[in-house]
Amino acid sequence: MCGIVGYIGYRDTNPILIEGLKRLEYRGYDSAGVCILVDGETVIVKDKGKVSHLESLLDAKNVHSTIGIGHTRWATHGEPNFVNAHPHSNEEGDIVLIHNGIIENFNTLKKSLITQGYTFKSDTDTEVLAHLIDVFMKKGNKLFRAVRLALSEVEGTYGLAVISSREPNILIAARKGSPLVIGVGDKENFIASDVSALITHTKQVVYLDDGEVAEITAEGFRVKTVQDEEISKEVTEVFLTLEELDRGGYDTFMLKEIMEQPESVLNSLRGRLLLDEGTSKLGGLENVLDKLVTAKRFILTACGTSWHSGLVAEYMFEQYLRIPTEVEYASEFRYRNPIIEPGDAIFFISQSGETADTLAAMHEAKRKGALCIGICNGVGSSIARDSDSGVYIHAGPEIGVASTKAFTSQLTVFALITLLLARKKDMSLADGKIIVEEFKLLPGKIKKILELRSRIEEIAEVFKDTPNFLYLGRGYNFPVALEGALKLKEISYIHAEGYPAAEMKHGPIALVDKNMPVVFIAPKDSTYDKINSNIQEIKARKGIVIAIATEDDDRIDTIADYSIKIPGTIRMLTPILSVIPLQLLAYFIAKKKGLNVDQPRNLAKSVTVE
Ligand code: F6R
Repeated sequence: MCGIVGYIGYRDTNPILIEGLKRLEYRGYDSAGVCILVDGETVIVKDKGKVSHLESLLDAKNVHSTIGIGHTRWATHGEPNFVNAHPHSNEEGDIVLIHNGIIENFNTLKKSLITQGYTFKSDTDTEVLAHLIDVFMKKGNKLFRAVRLALSEVEGTYGLAVISSREPNILIAARKGSPLVIGVGDKENFIASDVSALITHTKQVVYLDDGEVAEITAEGFRVKTVQDEEISKEVTEVFLTLEELDRGGYDTFMLKEIMEQPESVLNSLRGRLLLDEGTSKLGGLENVLDKLVTAKRFILTACGTSWHSGLVAEYMFEQYLRIPTEVEYASEFRYRNPIIEPGDAIFFISQSGETADTLAAMHEAKRKGALCIGICNGVGSSIARDSDSGVYIHAGPEIGVASTKAFTSQLTVFALITLLLARKKDMSLADGKIIVEEFKLLPGKIKKILELRSRIEEIAEVFKDTPNFLYLGRGYNFPVALEGALKLKEISYIHAEGYPAAEMKHGPIALVDKNMPVVFIAPKDSTYDKINSNIQEIKARKGIVIAIATEDDDRIDTIADYSIKIPGTIRMLTPILSVIPLQLLAYFIAKKKGLNVDQPRNLAKSVTVE
């Protein structure tokens, strides 16, 4: 979603801002802009479109500075155009800011500012902030204080960066519900909404917490709360390399991330398997282990692909732990006054760790006294920091908007949690050891599936112009059907639906004719015979069947039109394998349609607004 970068120091700010914005492009955006201070004046360059377009506008202007802020906008209020692109300024143009998030009371604030004589240029909620800060500066406050006074009137969320030609040697940053990090350099400092935008310059960072405002100079920074309380912040080191952020020779980040799954799953497992004890070890859960083992109910909440991983975890928890488990969309959970009782443990699943609905759901659950466990990829992310305990999935940075390796790593971590708790409950050592052995085989099995790439590409060629797809699975593979359909629709714009295979008879079968491809996730497990009957039902109506089946399954070839064979494993781990052909199928179909798979239209990598 929207991205923020900022710089104050001794170097030319333009390349630093542009490089930072390029690193944030993956989050999804529709316009971009910067503001720098030149000879006591603010210079704003912005437009609808890509960062490369902004870069040429900035080059053409030939202005330079050692302080500046930059933004990529994903429209929430007002269409994507020049006027609505950030930065925004007050009327005199000497207070300039960029903002991620939503000012919820912007209409009330706007009306009050209009009665005070302020006029508005844009349709954005952000512009009220520039005028509001102006009000407080005109009352004699310095910029740092004026920003805090303005923010005390604001309801909503913000990641904010402000500069002013009235005080040209400071940069103000603030955060509430939208991430913001300070990068600490030598005689220079940086800000960004995501560490990836600043790690080429420094690995020393300070994460702002909600309600904090920082005054940053080239020499240092200080942080206060909106309510004026001085805060001392810890500088931490980020362990991320540039290669981890680059495409590593692949055409797209999405393909790189799909192909990386043998390593990313291995990284999720690294140091966490104890063969002799037939169990796993998850340091982040040690302080809550007893509570989890005796929990009366688990609730798993998340959005999108992360929600699908919660659905798979529900099968794991109920099969091995016999703990009642509910899975809920975070956006529904947060607003429905959920019933939370003693003995409940709630898992918040998020690749980014910044998804607004999931974060708000967690804050709501905390208010109600629930035990909150974060399952995140983003190290130091808001969900990771605000949860009581948690487990990092260690998938590495996921840049492609469509989540792939984070999903398989989330499933891996849920299987590790299941093993850990099951061994504390009633699973035998022998059974635990079998599961540990199966975990160890996963990376090799994923490699084998990835070798089927060209076969899957051929199938994609056949179906690239198909307007509709159905995905069907049962048990553990029902959520995989949902995930396969989501992958296809989000990057290829083909309409696709996922269903439990037997549910098909209650409606979707009406869609089936000779033009309808139906993807069955049909590994050899306890539902195999049932799903075979469902395949027959589709064939009887002349539907086209693409089956994801187990390697030694010859029977499937006699009924399916196309089959993709994956190695067998225990039921709990099957989704980690069965989803991979579906990721590749969606990928190749979208590529063959000539689409931008890394940044599909209308989507953002990190949805930091509700
Ligand atoms: C789909 C996808 C989204 C995310 C969802 C939650 O490919 O990426 O559906 O899964 O926006 O994001 P996180 O996991 O960052 O909370």
